[in-house]
Amino acid sequence: MWKSATVLVTSLVLYVTAAPYDVKRCSVELEKAGVSHQFNETVAHTVHSMTVQGLRLFNPRATVHNQVPTVNHNLQSPHKVLPYAPEDPTGSDFATASMNMLDEILSTLGQANDGLGPNWSAIERVVHQFHMRDVWSRVLQDFPYVQKAPPSESACACLLDTSVNGIRAAVQWVADHYSHGTPITLLNRPIPKLTDANSWAVWRQRLLHYYDAASVRDAATYIYCVTKDM
Ligand SMILES: *[C@@H]1O[C@H](CO)[C@@H](O)[C@H](O)[C@H]1NC(C)=O
Ligand SMILES: *[C@@H]1O[C@H](CO)[C@@H](O)[C@H](O)[C@H]1NC(C)=O
Repeated sequence: MWKSATVLVTSLVLYVTAAPYDVKRCSVELEKAGVSHQFNETVAHTVHSMTVQGLRLFNPRATVHNQVPTVNHNLQSPHKVLPYAPEDPTGSDFATASMNMLDEILSTLGQANDGLGPNWSAIERVVHQFHMRDVWSRVLQDFPYVQKAPPSESACACLLDTSVNGIRAAVQWVADHYSHGTPITLLNRPIPKLTDANSWAVWRQRLLHYYDAASVRDAATYIYCVTKDM
């Protein structure tokens, strides 16, 4: 009786503390799940400014009790990365979602609380916000394919261990670079100020960088794992 109770308690403890992140095992699991080797970048790009409202595109039950690492909207904070995606409801004074988004961005200009840091001009802030919504919409298009052939529990465990698997570090990279620049990709390439059609040509190419099938699939797989039990 006592012996079996001890065995039960021991196995419960083992179950709760779970296996530590194992790079080799996780790379096998993630490859099986169709996740690319650049998943730290592709996922961090998609989620660094994720919100509860963004997660609700994928699961209407999403709340702040999520594990998505994001850039802190208050970049003055010593913690530049939040361990979750925060609430960010847009207003409803205007009739369309896009006009309400524009209203939100322009109403907070100069307040340094939109999580982008000091270097972004008004038009660059608008582009960033619309870009992220656009990326989430692109990922949503492929979400049903991931739902139909979902990643294994162990692949999800590897993806969700963001403090070890490189996703959190890549979000930190974004947060750090926002203190002095306007990175669009995580490739550390200089980008011109967005002032005319020529600079837009560079921006639009950068903005489209993570729209390839593999990047979209990485992001869809991660978001599937994050939202599946909500
Ligand atoms: C992503 O991971 C690769 C190694 O696979 C590493 O070289 C790169 O620096 C990481 N990127 C970021 C932004 O952390
Ligand atoms: C960011 O803004 C500062 C202050 O305006 C400027 O000195 C710096 O060159 C900018 N950085 C980039 C990468 O544009």
